[in-house]
Amino acid sequence: MNNITNIPTPHISANACEFAKTVLMPGDPKRAKFIAENYLTDSVLVNDVRGVQGYTGYYNGKRVSVMASGMGMPSIGIYSYELYNFYDVENIIRIGTAGAIHPKLNIRDIVIGMGACTNSNYASQFRLPGTFAPIASFELLKKAVLAVEKTGANYMVGNLYSSDTFYDDALSLADWQKMGVLAVEMESAALYCNAARAGKNALCICTISDLPLNPGKDCTAEERQNSFTQMMEIALEIA
Ligand code: HPA
Repeated sequence: MNNITNIPTPHISANACEFAKTVLMPGDPKRAKFIAENYLTDSVLVNDVRGVQGYTGYYNGKRVSVMASGMGMPSIGIYSYELYNFYDVENIIRIGTAGAIHPKLNIRDIVIGMGACTNSNYASQFRLPGTFAPIASFELLKKAVLAVEKTGANYMVGNLYSSDTFYDDALSLADWQKMGVLAVEMESAALYCNAARAGKNALCICTISDLPLNPGKDCTAEERQNSFTQMMEIALEIA
């Protein structure tokens, strides 16, 4: 769909064609700025609505954009919808943090989200007569696995759990663990749903930043930054 009349959108002030076909999407706007300033050449600020900075530049000669998603499914739902449907973006690669659910995962390990379970009713809008299974683009997933193998990082590929709550009274992570789910975050299910509906591609790559089932072993700010760099380089490699 190329619905030029919707540009600019309520949340993105960029002009048509100002986004590359591939957008890297961290949660935090400061990380988008960090990537643009440290990894892209000739980067241009294309959005600053609500301080959600979006940049387009070049990585190894390839045009690529980076823009934050904010936190949670409502937020990534808005930005990914507008990028896919109004800005002709083909690929969105979320690069975020997640809490480990699988017992073999440690701080700084990488999880590639093949699928995304959720407690959100985001997919109810599609009025399907059953349960939709949000999945990653196989092409992006394949490239990410090849790229992460080269880094030597510890990684797992499988199901994420996208939760609507960071602070959850139900303490349900042990139940998701029984189903082999790897890690909890708050965005990938909505991103995968939007990609499916738009006929586009999405992938979520996460760094483990905390161990919610083993509290007290969280990342330091410095560890968070370093492991973020590794994940970002994988995403740029496959962009
Ligand atoms: N829960 C939800 N989202 C997260 C977490 C978590 O423990 N860690 C990073 N993102």
